[in-house]
Amino acid sequence: MVNFLIFGPPGSGKGTQSVRLAEKFNLTHLSTGDMLRAEIAAGTDLGTRMSSIMSRGELVPDEVVIEMIAARIDNTEGSEGFLFDGFPRTVAQTEALEKMLNKRGMKIDSMLVLDVDHDELVKRLVLRADLSGRPDDRDPAVIENRIDVYRAKTEPIIEFCRQRGIYQPVNGMGTIDDIFERLSGFVKKFL
Ligand code: AP5
Ligand code: MG
Repeated sequence: MVNFLIFGPPGSGKGTQSVRLAEKFNLTHLSTGDMLRAEIAAGTDLGTRMSSIMSRGELVPDEVVIEMIAARIDNTEGSEGFLFDGFPRTVAQTEALEKMLNKRGMKIDSMLVLDVDHDELVKRLVLRADLSGRPDDRDPAVIENRIDVYRAKTEPIIEFCRQRGIYQPVNGMGTIDDIFERLSGFVKKFL
């Protein structure tokens, strides 16, 4: 099993690229953002409690997403490994993930970080707002807050992964196809 983090600020293309990579390389795509939105759509208690945090662009509590991932991590039958999208988002989540994987004889093999200019991130998310129906895309101030939260709480994970020798920056500017080719090149090395 080979496990990848697909990493980068909001709007960097994590979701777009994960879907394609998962299909091409037979990986299990796990997105905590998608899981949380599914809880909201299903009207569960958890979804109701998390929706206002998400619409402000803040992070939900670590234990909520750690539990979601723990519940999914044993369901990998037939896949080559995991592609974690939007998780981990704090150093505490990273340590929890590492523990979960180690317990099962696995590790985080590579962290692929999509580098995208600030203005391009905002442009992509503003453009998506009409289509996605996501409340956190609708307000430019919330988009800025999501990027700030990423810089403050999520980016420190890069140093954590750099120390483990698994940090791999990837140019996230250009067409979706070009970026997919770049990412595929790095993923291929592990499979
Ligand atoms: P999450 O769902 O993870 O959202 P995000 O990180 O804000 O990122 P996005 O999904 O908006 O962007 P993306 O990088 O996936 O880009 P995409 O491919 O969609 O999290 C949402 C919220 O849930 C968080 O704010 C938090 O509240 C909560 N949450 C989730 N996980 C959590 C965790 N682990 N801990 C705590 N809280 C958590 O692309 C964006 C747009 O750009 C699309 O329209 C796409 O078509 C377009 N696009 C993509 N690539 C290109 C390109 N190359 N050129 C032009 N357009 C492009
Ligand atoms: Mg996403």
